[in-house]
Amino acid sequence: MAMAAAPGPPRFEHHTDASPALGLGTGAPRLSWTIPDAEPDYQQTAYEVEITRRGAVELHTVESCEQILVPWPGEPLSSREAASLRVRVAHGDTWSEWSSAASVEAGLLEPTDWAATFASPVGLGATEMPAPILSSTITISGDVSSARLYATAHGVYVATLNGSRVGDQVLAPGWTSYPNRLRYQTYDVTDLVRSGENVLEVLLGDGWYRGHLGFKGEKALYGDRLALLAQLEITTTDGHRHVLATDESWSARESEILTHDLYDGQRTDLRRRDRNWHPGIAGVERIEADMTRLVAPEGPPVRITEVLPARRVWRSPSGRTLVDFGQNAVGWVRLRVRGLAPGDEVIVRHAEVLENEELGTRPLRAAKATDTYLVAGSSEEILEPALTFHGFRYAEITGLADLRNEDIEAVVAGSDLRRTGWFTSSHELLNRFHDNVVWSMRGNFLDVPTDCPQRDERLGWTGDTQVFAPTAMFLFDTAGFLGSWLGDLQAEQETDGSVPFVIPDVLRDQSPAAAAWGDAATIVPWVLYERTGDRGILARQLPSMRRWVDKIAALAGPDRLWTGGFQFGDWLDPTAPPDRPGDAKADPDVVATAYFARSAETVARAARVLQQLDVADQYAALAKAVRTAFAHAYVTPAGRVLSDAQTVYALTVMWDLLPSDEQRSEAGRRLADLVRESGYRIGTGFVGTPLVTDALAKAGHADVAYRLLLQTECPSWLYPVTMGATTVWERWDSMLPDGSINPGEMTSFNHYALGAIADWLHRSVAGLAPGAPGYREIVVRPLLSSTLTSASARHLTPYGEAHVAWEINSDRFHLAVRVPVGATGHVYLPGTETAEIVRHGNHSWDVAVQIDTPALVPAFTD
Ligand code: BGC
Repeated sequence: MAMAAAPGPPRFEHHTDASPALGLGTGAPRLSWTIPDAEPDYQQTAYEVEITRRGAVELHTVESCEQILVPWPGEPLSSREAASLRVRVAHGDTWSEWSSAASVEAGLLEPTDWAATFASPVGLGATEMPAPILSSTITISGDVSSARLYATAHGVYVATLNGSRVGDQVLAPGWTSYPNRLRYQTYDVTDLVRSGENVLEVLLGDGWYRGHLGFKGEKALYGDRLALLAQLEITTTDGHRHVLATDESWSARESEILTHDLYDGQRTDLRRRDRNWHPGIAGVERIEADMTRLVAPEGPPVRITEVLPARRVWRSPSGRTLVDFGQNAVGWVRLRVRGLAPGDEVIVRHAEVLENEELGTRPLRAAKATDTYLVAGSSEEILEPALTFHGFRYAEITGLADLRNEDIEAVVAGSDLRRTGWFTSSHELLNRFHDNVVWSMRGNFLDVPTDCPQRDERLGWTGDTQVFAPTAMFLFDTAGFLGSWLGDLQAEQETDGSVPFVIPDVLRDQSPAAAAWGDAATIVPWVLYERTGDRGILARQLPSMRRWVDKIAALAGPDRLWTGGFQFGDWLDPTAPPDRPGDAKADPDVVATAYFARSAETVARAARVLQQLDVADQYAALAKAVRTAFAHAYVTPAGRVLSDAQTVYALTVMWDLLPSDEQRSEAGRRLADLVRESGYRIGTGFVGTPLVTDALAKAGHADVAYRLLLQTECPSWLYPVTMGATTVWERWDSMLPDGSINPGEMTSFNHYALGAIADWLHRSVAGLAPGAPGYREIVVRPLLSSTLTSASARHLTPYGEAHVAWEINSDRFHLAVRVPVGATGHVYLPGTETAEIVRHGNHSWDVAVQIDTPALVPAFTD
């Protein structure tokens, strides 16, 4: 029997080191582990979980080959209960060593666990008034053994305990569908509390709750009262639990933050930090609020993830001081200043681009993105905001006579997701494009997957998330993050199945239903399942998935064609005029019915995974009927598709919407012709872009796919890179070739949607694709091209690290593959149609290839 190395410590649900399993929302978290190494024949036949809780040890032995998201084997944890777990695995009678231990602790699982009530300041902290600080004290005698702070707010909060900041989260509790789901955070504050008096102070800000949200200029969409819910629990060595909970006895005072807003920025009076400044003290009152909405986080919090130095400081033609950080990013500017007089004003404005050598703020639309400081005038001061963020590469700084590069930094903030995916190739521009995708994801995965991070929008647009989800799931561990967002989607879906255009829904349209946007309800859960093997997410979302498809079915009626009504369509294709972004070449009805078929099929697949066979049959039959109706209405017998656009061919080729082989090959041929006719320039918008290269390759035109991919003229993926872009743009020509900013309303320079092609780079160019849910099977099928001499991708799959790297050297093709323990690799060598199946470990091949071999069949068949 073959031996395995000790597994890594067990992981709980989708938590990572960046979001440790402290304050979990379930008492029975599922467990996963990776096995770093094993003998070639090793195959797990059993595992053992050792749970140490309340001083006792339990052993659970389970015969199973599963190692991902296995059920919690013991009694569920109760609220606040902690346990320590180890795991070991066996092949037959041969057991591995034990893993190291991982600890887990449940949060407050029941509303009745909260002694605290929501407390809101009275007479201060109202809209447009300085941000309030709520505070109270607790005196304890005896030695502290442990302490936890549970907290959330209507608004955002920053807590300090005895003068030290609690945790390192930014903008907690983040943004969820507040009326349905409000996150609370759990902090281990054992090191911050002490015997004697303890002072808890919490700054409250508007955040998403009460600040501006959306492009209609609206504010306070969730309520106009800030409120805090906090419960500090200190356990002393005698076993006694001392509780400080928000109630009417707390007091409030004004902070130094005079005004603040996520879009507009923050105005801070640092003179108020002076000991001699005495703010007025006010009381608080209790706010009635639904405690059943409280949920524990499923993903990591927002944190500072990096700090970028200033690259260049200079004077603009109009005499303003500008700073370039060299990277379009999301966060804020931090300044170190000296020698100023009390009350001197320093102003920081932000922009993503320059125009006419000045800050190009027009794309920010109504967002003022300006931070202002009235300095204290001390010898050295640090200026940075606490309750806002901006999307910027450049800043303009007023009020400082001399500025040194080393005194200026860009602080990068975002959800602290674990990086899990990398790609590189022999093509420098392509590598920079991939970096740009990563940066756009980092900027826009700030608690909610947003369209853009800079203008008066920053909303969880469903269509953008839907097309980008596969890329996101490869680059970063986003299962918890997107799982939480899907929880909001389900909560906000209307009873008739409509899916709001943005989640959390702040647009509040009546009965919204738009193809590709609403289909986030079906496609995002499926992508999560495909990439993680998490059946639980499908089980949780299936009712929502079905309701969405039922909604479309009702809209389509008996002819099964979803026609008319409002559609975003192939949003922002290059032919759409700047002021009419939905006016794309692809017919919106064709797009809508294609998505109808796709979503019905996705529900059928999900139901089959969940063994709900009747449901699966019902939706499979619906999908078939929709495909038939589609072909009848929109496809000619020869294989032309209505509106004859790149996107409609990409959809039909990829989603099996063409009944005959002749139609399929004609559609593929026509797509290739259209791309050639356009001079290998892109002709797709949000809908077609993630599919077009896949479709070309699937139809046997991989050479055309590569020419399209590597095009540098506008419009193309690489054109922005040649223009110096460091993030993905919203439109193909957000900056026009003459360096001016596109006059359209939609001109963000940080929008990940068109970066969805990165998934194809990983799956097909490098050739690392999921063949079975959770990468239990890894399909290695690189799509070779004479334009690249090497490519590689690395991904931390649920089973561990997978790696594919290929290189062409004169006429030799070299392939190196790493398969983690628990998975198998299905490797297709150039020119072969049969996979070689390899088990865990490192493998390599060296074979002869002819460079002019047309690019090979793609890895992804769907
Ligand atoms: C957003 C897009 C979004 C679109 C939908 C825009 O304002 O920025 O990314 O999907 O609206 O129409």
